[in-house]
Amino acid sequence: MLVSAKEMIDKAHAGHYAIGAFNINNLEWIKGILTACEETKSPVILGVSEGAGKYMCGFKNVVNMVKGVHDYLGITVPVAIHLDHGTYEGAKACIEAGFTSVMFDGSHYSFEENLAKSKELIELAHSKGVSIECEVGGIGGEEDGTLSMGELADPKECATIASLGVDFLAAGIGNIHGVYPKDWKGLNFERLGEIQKATNGKPLVLHGGSGIPYEQVHKAITLGVSKVNVNTELQIEFAKATRGYIEAGNDENIAKKGYDPRKLLKPGTEAISAKVKELLKIFGSEGKAL
Ligand code: 13P
Repeated sequence: MLVSAKEMIDKAHAGHYAIGAFNINNLEWIKGILTACEETKSPVILGVSEGAGKYMCGFKNVVNMVKGVHDYLGITVPVAIHLDHGTYEGAKACIEAGFTSVMFDGSHYSFEENLAKSKELIELAHSKGVSIECEVGGIGGEEDGTLSMGELADPKECATIASLGVDFLAAGIGNIHGVYPKDWKGLNFERLGEIQKATNGKPLVLHGGSGIPYEQVHKAITLGVSKVNVNTELQIEFAKATRGYIEAGNDENIAKKGYDPRKLLKPGTEAISAKVKELLKIFGSEGKAL
C-alpha cells in the first residue's frame, strides 16, 4: 500500500533526518529506487514531474506501475507517490488518480494567487488523506518547463503559507535544479534558519538536492529540512552506466540480434540503486522504517 508522506516527514523532522524524494521516469528507476530503500529499510517518496507523468502514459498509469512494482517486489517500507512541481490542474488530476502526496508549485503566480490556490488545494488534498507541499520563492534552474530565477524565499510569505496547514514547504534558499554552476555561492543557512523560525518549525524541503556538498545537505537537515529532492544525479548515474555497458563492447551483437533492453538497462538500474543508498546515508533515513 502506498502512504501519504505526512507521517514519514513529521517523524524525520522530529528525528533530525530527511526523507529522500527521488524522481521516477520509468520502470527501471522505480525498481532501482524501491530496491535500495527496501534493502536499507528507508521510507521513501517517489517524485513524478508532470512531464514524467506524460512520458509514463498518464498519472493513473504511474500509480498502477508503482503499486504493481511495490507489491511484486514485496516492499515493506513506507512509500509515497508524490507529484513534483505540480500545476494547479496537475495537482487536482493526481489527487484524482490516486497519488498519496502532491506538490503545488504556485511560485510563478503573484503571492496572493499562490496563497488562494494553495489554500484550496491544501483543503482538497487533506479531505482525501493526501499530503501536500507548496512552494514559496522560486527555485532556480529548469524543472520540466517550470522556470524561475533562483531566489531566497521571504520568511513572512513562508509563514503565511505554513499557517494554511501545508504539510511541508519548499522555500528557495539559494538552491537550484540541475547541475550547480562552478561559481554557485552555496545554501543560505541564515535564511533557512529564519524560515524555520517564522514557520514555527514546519518541515522544509530542499529542492535541487543533486550536487550540493554533503556537509551542506547535512547542515540543512539539522536546520529543519526533512525532504531532499534528487533527480539530476540519478539521471547522470543511469546515463553513465548505460553508456558504459555499450562502450564495454556489448554492442557487437546489434547486427546479429539487436539489443536486449533488459541487459542494456540493468547496469543503469543498479547504478541508481547504488546512488540512492549513498544518499540515504547522508540523509540519515536508513533503518528508519524498522
Ligand atoms: P536536482 O535537479 O538537483 O536533482 O533536483 C531535483 C528536484 O528538486 C526535483 O524537484
